[in-house]
Amino acid sequence: RKKEKTVFFCKECGHESTKWLGQCPGCGQWNTFVEEVIKNDTNLSGEISSDLPKTRPTKLKDVNYDEFSRTSTKMEELDRVLGGGIVKNSLILLGGDPGIGKSTLLLQVCKNLANQDKKVLYVSGEESLQQIKMRAERLGDFSKDMYLYCETDLSDVSREIINNSPDFVVIDSIQTMYNANVTASLGSVSQIRESTGILMRLAKEVGTTIVIVGHVTKEGTVAGPRVLEHMVDTVLYFEGDRYASYRVLRSVKNRFGSTNEVGVFEMNEDGLRQVNNPSEYMLSGRPENATGSIASCSMEGSRPILLEVQALICETSFQIPQRTANGIDLKRVNLLMAVLEKRARVKMSFCDAYVNIAGGLKIKEPAIDLGIALAMYSSFKNIPIDEKLVAFGEIGLSGEVRMVNMAEQRVLEAKKLGFEKVILPETSANSLKKISGIKIIGVKDVSEAIKAL
Ligand code: TYD
Ligand code: MG
Repeated sequence: RKKEKTVFFCKECGHESTKWLGQCPGCGQWNTFVEEVIKNDTNLSGEISSDLPKTRPTKLKDVNYDEFSRTSTKMEELDRVLGGGIVKNSLILLGGDPGIGKSTLLLQVCKNLANQDKKVLYVSGEESLQQIKMRAERLGDFSKDMYLYCETDLSDVSREIINNSPDFVVIDSIQTMYNANVTASLGSVSQIRESTGILMRLAKEVGTTIVIVGHVTKEGTVAGPRVLEHMVDTVLYFEGDRYASYRVLRSVKNRFGSTNEVGVFEMNEDGLRQVNNPSEYMLSGRPENATGSIASCSMEGSRPILLEVQALICETSFQIPQRTANGIDLKRVNLLMAVLEKRARVKMSFCDAYVNIAGGLKIKEPAIDLGIALAMYSSFKNIPIDEKLVAFGEIGLSGEVRMVNMAEQRVLEAKKLGFEKVILPETSANSLKKISGIKIIGVKDVSEAIKAL
């Protein structure tokens, strides 16, 4: 057998193939295959394995739950996403676009853990000691110390972890870690997978929590964090508009908790601040008496978040009308325009349409359909919508307004924030128990919703 072989990997999802493919059968993306040379059946992590303490099989009744103990990061929003704090011996992946605030968040976590007398090691392959210190100084009180280590050679990093057994380790970022036993280039699929495999073993066997930072990359041959998702215990993504200050932390996989929760943060001069009442935050700065603006409600995990949907509809001066959507899928906007046109006789196919979720949140939940449709209607007809009104509901192709889950939580959130009226699917309205202090308007279809405005 040959010592080395050439394989092709999708740098988005890690799909492996013996030949180059234009479209990845794994994730459906185009032009994501990169060529890598890997060594044939050598024990790549052998060198480090020999340093690790040997484990033995354990009797079931001897297993104690101590190993599952959680430590609070002293950031409620993060603890919630993790399912109640960080779990000992776990490997966590934190993904996100460059510059979104991953290093900042983790440095803050390091600070909070160090201040609880935990032994913390922050490994950076991206910044110098001085740069990290400069950042740390903006983040406040590091009175209890922590260790910084600027190193990209994973065998050195492993040795430090084995020798000092810290409670918490950050690897910033996995794409900068280099493993001399792997022939493939820095940041390649095989490099970052092999490194992650080693870190997983370290986390389990040394008994530490390791957080890996993974940049989401669009260009070049550097592999993205999705390639590692199946290898780790918990996968978190940090999202948001780089130019807006809010950030959402989402969990897409969690062996120790639900994947439903989100954490909301705001980027400030002194690091990330938690946003405990996201609805208030998302609705701040709403224009008064403006057309094309309405409040809607989306569930983010178990939390309802009220937000402002904005639409601008105007007659086009182009050959083909322009359509732009921010924070929601453009296809959804096109579909809703078609439904309005066909089912509610709102003729706007000759119009440009711009739809925006204020604050920059990205919403996938169809429950804001009704908000979008009414915002578009309001802009098209130049009629402002009552500021004290919230509308939510999924819209079907026949123009029907369909039931959404957790209607009650949404209505209660609206009431809490001082809204006076809510338009929602009739079916949801009927299943609601009585809520006083807010007017409930159940509607069957878009036309009824428009009438109710
Ligand atoms: P960073 O954590 O370096 O992002 P990542 O590690 O995900 O690449 O955050 C980078 C941005 O955050 C940078 O543009 C500066 C900004 N920032 C603040 O606004 N306030 C702060 O206190 C810090 C530390 C950074
Ligand atoms: Mg960084």
